[in-house]
Amino acid sequence: MKAYIDLHLHLDGAITVEIARKLEEKAGIILPEEDTELEQKLSVSETCENLNDFLKCFELPLSLLQTEETVEEAVYQVQENIKKDGIVYAEIRFAPQLHCRNGLSQKQIIEASLRGLHKSDLPCNLILCCMRGQDVKAQNMETIRLAKKYLVKDGGVVAIDLAGAEGLFPTADYKEEFEEAQRLGIPVTIHAGEADGAESVKTALEFGAVRIGHGVRSFEDPGLLQELKRRQTCLEMCPTSNRQTKAIENMEQYPLTDYLKMGICVTINTDDMAISRTTIQKEFSYVEKMYGLTEEQKERLFLNAVQSAFTTDERKKQLINEYAVRG
Ligand code: HPA
Ligand code: ZN
Repeated sequence: MKAYIDLHLHLDGAITVEIARKLEEKAGIILPEEDTELEQKLSVSETCENLNDFLKCFELPLSLLQTEETVEEAVYQVQENIKKDGIVYAEIRFAPQLHCRNGLSQKQIIEASLRGLHKSDLPCNLILCCMRGQDVKAQNMETIRLAKKYLVKDGGVVAIDLAGAEGLFPTADYKEEFEEAQRLGIPVTIHAGEADGAESVKTALEFGAVRIGHGVRSFEDPGLLQELKRRQTCLEMCPTSNRQTKAIENMEQYPLTDYLKMGICVTINTDDMAISRTTIQKEFSYVEKMYGLTEEQKERLFLNAVQSAFTTDERKKQLINEYAVRG
């Protein structure tokens, strides 16, 4: 089997029917009896207009992830699930503040996720997301404080992110969060250039992001493309998600392979595999079919992911060896 890396994978977007069934009792939630109906409820419809629409799909999976037990189990089950797809290393992200509806603290949620993480033998790390939204400053600052507290080089929390509705809440509004993250030396990736344009990506770079979630719309500013190349900023691109949220009008013009040819550090990821009904293999097949991928480009994509992973050099060496064996 081929070896893949997924650097952009949301826990709440990875709750498949099978995982939801494992959580429902523990969550105290009654789900539809029919799997087809449940799958429909857990995934995005083809009528999705934009990212705001897409984000509504998180309501059901999030409702299952409001206890320590279900968060722990979900992190473990997602790892077991992606292992079957040939993933040899992943970074799983979630926003602790979205799991506190029943009165749990962000700290309790993070500790539960770490227990789940350590149950699986798949090498994975966690990225904690701050959220775009109204009145979230205090929760975001708490996420950053906890990211620092739990920060490790491998085998735990390795970075922070900014997720949520980019079209409604501009990146620039989160200056305080990322100044603090920079002050604390926490590695940063930011969702940008997905529902908003190149300016959002530039702001993310100013905020210290060494990786960009999506970055699709960076092409709007050729100077920015040069800067991304010069810095070797990783673009965590997620083709199916970008198609569904209409990050770009026409998928024929999806810039992934153009960026790759330019020498920008592009990677292919799933984003929300259950909501988008995808897998890492499907993402690669889609790109291969639509735009073509040479063996060299496939290897480049793997090496880009290794280069950009928030992990140790030892882990990176192990992943490169794995590719040589399974490639
Ligand atoms: N963008 C912003 N927030 C998200 C996404 C995304 O693509 N997926 C899950 N949360
Ligand atoms: Zn995402």
